[in-house]
Amino acid sequence: MKALILSGGKGTRLRPLTYTTAKQLVPVANKPILGYVLDHIAGAGIKDAGIIISPETGEDVKRYVKTGSDWGLKARYILQSEPLGLAHAVSTARDFLGDDDFIMYLGDNLLSRGVKDSVKKFKLERPDALIFLKEVDNPKQFGVAQLDKKKKVIKLIEKPENPPSNLALVGVYIFSRSVHDAIARIKPSFRGELEITDAIQELINMKCKVESEILDGWWLDTGKKDDLLQANTVVLDEYIKRQIKGRVDGRSQVSGRVTVEKGATVVNSIIRGPVIIGKGAKIKDSFIGPFTSIGDDVTVTGSAIEHSVILNNSDVEGVERLEDSLIGRCARIIRNQNRHKALRLMVGDDSIIEV
Ligand code: DAU
Repeated sequence: MKALILSGGKGTRLRPLTYTTAKQLVPVANKPILGYVLDHIAGAGIKDAGIIISPETGEDVKRYVKTGSDWGLKARYILQSEPLGLAHAVSTARDFLGDDDFIMYLGDNLLSRGVKDSVKKFKLERPDALIFLKEVDNPKQFGVAQLDKKKKVIKLIEKPENPPSNLALVGVYIFSRSVHDAIARIKPSFRGELEITDAIQELINMKCKVESEILDGWWLDTGKKDDLLQANTVVLDEYIKRQIKGRVDGRSQVSGRVTVEKGATVVNSIIRGPVIIGKGAKIKDSFIGPFTSIGDDVTVTGSAIEHSVILNNSDVEGVERLEDSLIGRCARIIRNQNRHKALRLMVGDDSIIEV
């Protein structure tokens, strides 16, 4: 079995972060989302990974994954010149996929568990598609499945106006070669994309075997700021261990599951886990509260931060309370010394500031 990882697209919902990086490379608990995806692929014993990249962010993805050897994978890059849909990405990868079975994994989806057991089940039962479903509160934002009384998938609709259920399609799919025949029969959707959801519906129409599994663990689609903060919370909660590799001075208090990476310093500060503090970061006279990821080489001075993600090389200085925030790379947030004066901002396109 091969893997096809979708790391193309434009990432418009995560702007401005995605003006300078691929959305699949935005870190959750200081590790790019794509890193977790590759862990899962490798964990299922797969060796050949095709990675769909876009002209805009492909080089960044290549720089991170390189040959794939960090995960024991052989990575092959497949350029999709325009994001014309998930099924279009599969067609673009046809030479790489050949007639093999493959697992398709959206590079911005995070799952609590790996895919090893599902791959095993697919190999044993040999359906044409194995899809994963999860109950959600907002089904209109996803592909949605309708099941019959025997839990068999009877219908799939992409982003429906009137969802027939609250079972969303998770961004992981396992296919046999039949999916290529189904893709050849579908037309672009209302959003102008060749939808994988329509291709799976076509498999059902073609009387192919479509199986589904309802996920019991968490699943996160990291498309927007709040989704990303939630992902950060869930991943910190699940994976962060107490590990102090950097330097914490005697005036600081570090409680709970806190990782302080090599070269980071914590001076006269309170850190309450789960928190990760990246390599070379400097925390001084500050409070870092639960569910916060501080990136590499970030400096935080005289500030309080909670439930936030601060990406590499940013500075936060004299900020009384920063909460529920997502701060990009190399940003500077500094308190105006004269607090009654107007705010002074230099904000990138598509930024959101709540004051
Ligand atoms: O996250 C699950 C949902 O993913 C499913 O419920 C939907 O049925 C499925 O269509 C998809 O919906 P999204 O609207 O969230 O997909 P998005 O456009 O965000 O693309 C998902 C990933 O695939 C993202 O990492 C970018 C990449 N991509 C996307 C397109 C359209 C490509 O590599 N090429 C593309 O042409």
